[in-house]
Amino acid sequence: MRETPAPPVYSTPDEAARVGRPVGANGRWLERSLAAVWHPCTQMKQHEALPLVPIARGEGAWLYDFDGRRYLDGVSSWWVNLFGHANPRIRSAIVAQLDELEHVMLAGFTHRPVVELSERLAALAPGHLGHAFYGSDGAAATEIALKMAFHYWKNRGRSEKTHYLSLAGSYHGETLGALAVTDVRIFRDTYAPLLNRNLTVPSPDARGAKEGESARDVAVRAAAALEAHLARHHDTIAAFIVEPLVQGAAGMAMYDPHYLLLAREICTRHDVLLIADEIMTGFGRTGTMYACTAAGIVPDMICLSKGITGGYLPLSCVLSTDAIYAAFYADEVERGFLHSHSYTGNPLACAAALAVLDIFRDDDVLNTNRQKSGRWTALAAPLAAHPKARDFRNRGMIWAFEVDTDRPDFARWCFAEGLARELLLRPIGRTVYFMPPYTMTDDEFALLAGRTREIVDAA
Ligand SMILES: Cc1ncc(COP(=O)(O)O)c(C=O)c1O
Repeated sequence: MRETPAPPVYSTPDEAARVGRPVGANGRWLERSLAAVWHPCTQMKQHEALPLVPIARGEGAWLYDFDGRRYLDGVSSWWVNLFGHANPRIRSAIVAQLDELEHVMLAGFTHRPVVELSERLAALAPGHLGHAFYGSDGAAATEIALKMAFHYWKNRGRSEKTHYLSLAGSYHGETLGALAVTDVRIFRDTYAPLLNRNLTVPSPDARGAKEGESARDVAVRAAAALEAHLARHHDTIAAFIVEPLVQGAAGMAMYDPHYLLLAREICTRHDVLLIADEIMTGFGRTGTMYACTAAGIVPDMICLSKGITGGYLPLSCVLSTDAIYAAFYADEVERGFLHSHSYTGNPLACAAALAVLDIFRDDDVLNTNRQKSGRWTALAAPLAAHPKARDFRNRGMIWAFEVDTDRPDFARWCFAEGLARELLLRPIGRTVYFMPPYTMTDDEFALLAGRTREIVDAA
């Protein structure tokens, strides 16, 4: 017996067109997808009104559907495609690796790409974060960091440190451990009975500035709240996990780097590990290779994923300090970090990541981006000045603003309006943001900003 009714399948293009579905090749892929694929982060029923977009191929900053329509990827496809789609250099690195070694388990074995990648990620990191532990997606990196933090303290005789602290509005992924340190209601509330107790402290989000306060004042005020919390509860807290400089899912909440400097000092003083979740901010997104560098701090662990392979293959990584590594190095097996995933350190994914690092080095990407960021902010000036745009802000290669609108369905409406204008926009609530591939051209960015302005006009 089929308990869930299957989505309707329209046998002819005419029938599909009659109920407002796309027709042609797009329509066929859409129907097959609705019948067979359960899509992420989606209430599937909403696709009755807002059709899926079947994508046939990508090139540079553009995605193309099966019927020849195109979409400018303004969000780097969930923040991963740093160097656009179908990047020939990443592609050839993967093809070359295919001829050498596609996979070998990483327990008991090692290989060239994983060694070289670990060395290079550590060399780019602030301080000495020389021990790379691999997972696949971002949430896996969060899980690794959380387990490692607890186990670190347990190995040091502090097994009462069983809690974690995160910022209000934080997002660290959606597996149960990561969700426990995530503070976004729509993702969290349903599963709350399954989650460990969540402790949050106020975010330094600069939009929270009171009359006369600067972003730095907000940072100082939020750090005082962190200090007060840890002064009381540090005995039971293993780690403070934080998205450095920009809290993505909170609506691109940007804050003053001074907060991180203060947080580093407070965590050290209270024997609480500092985990920097750079899954979104890493790889140049906020202007420096890792966001922590801009604040001049060295966290105890850095979580990386998303841009690490430029959107080619799933890979994540946690870099940690010598002190953490040393706490696990012992004769007793159970003192070791026995966590594992089958695809840990997959050679193809590591080869893609090495190609990404080559592009950063060979194309002087951080400097080029610095200039692009200035030019693109100027191109977005008419959008920033729109009377319905609030708190227009920019850090590195991220631009965001809130739209003054009463539309309760604004995010979905704006997404659909974007598609109608050849744009891939994916607002978070009323926050519209751009997180373009670094390879986008000035003309393409001007088109992105200009057409988004038309949408804001109509909102
Ligand atoms: C800061 C941060 N941490 C963790 C994650 C989870 O990564 P993934 O979706 O790859 O599990 C995300 C994803 O958006 C993120 O932005």
